[in-house]
Amino acid sequence: MKKVLSLILAAALILCFAACSQQPAVEKPDNATVIKMGTNAAFPPYEFKEGEAFKGIDVDIATEIAKELGAELEVVDMEFDSIITSVQKGEVDFGMAGMTVTDERKLEVNFTSSYATGVQVVIVPEGSDIKSLDDLEGKKIGTQLGTTGDIYSKDDYGEENVVSYSKGADAIIALKGGDVDAVIIDNEPAKAFVAQNEGLEILETEYAIEDYAIAVKKENTDLLDKINAALEKLTADGTIDRIIANYISAE
Ligand code: ARG
Repeated sequence: MKKVLSLILAAALILCFAACSQQPAVEKPDNATVIKMGTNAAFPPYEFKEGEAFKGIDVDIATEIAKELGAELEVVDMEFDSIITSVQKGEVDFGMAGMTVTDERKLEVNFTSSYATGVQVVIVPEGSDIKSLDDLEGKKIGTQLGTTGDIYSKDDYGEENVVSYSKGADAIIALKGGDVDAVIIDNEPAKAFVAQNEGLEILETEYAIEDYAIAVKKENTDLLDKINAALEKLTADGTIDRIIANYISAE
């Protein structure tokens, strides 16, 4: 009898233990699944930080996508040129950073359908003798490391003429300080940087026209399909246009 009692007691203890340990203190009460977005939050108006908060077109669209997926969005900020590796390793669920779809990147990750267009433009100091893309020949060009502007300009104007910075804003500081003669970067951040800094202008000639999309790990086709379905819905009901209009005024 004693034996049976102690057995019951032991079983009860084990049960309680299992039940009590089921809810670790750190878990959110609503048990929401978290979906992680890898980005580089130094690229206004697509992603930037205001204090500790992440803001921008990509952050807002990703928040809506997460809702569609019944998940909660977590933004993970990193260097732009680490995003694809981070997606491949599964450290983040997707990469969203005003990221251009390119053939080289397509070998490494899958891209969703495109949700925005980007244009690579050239920023110069007002009154610069650089008036066209040809004038860039032999000049020092500043870029953000690992971006299409960085990759293309090294190809077109020679690696020795391109200085790659970890952030677009650092390239702008270099331009103002005369360390580089021009900066090649996406048009919307370019407009934001020119608005924040006096004495700079954007050349009218466009360097490259591109599609932005979300990068997903090759193996994770299930997530790719779900994000595409969410994007389709958010496009059809006008959510994406509304978010973009919140940050970019139509000219
Ligand atoms: N569109 C360019 C690219 O994909 C630049 C993107 C940079 N994005 C960022 N969040 N810093 O290469």
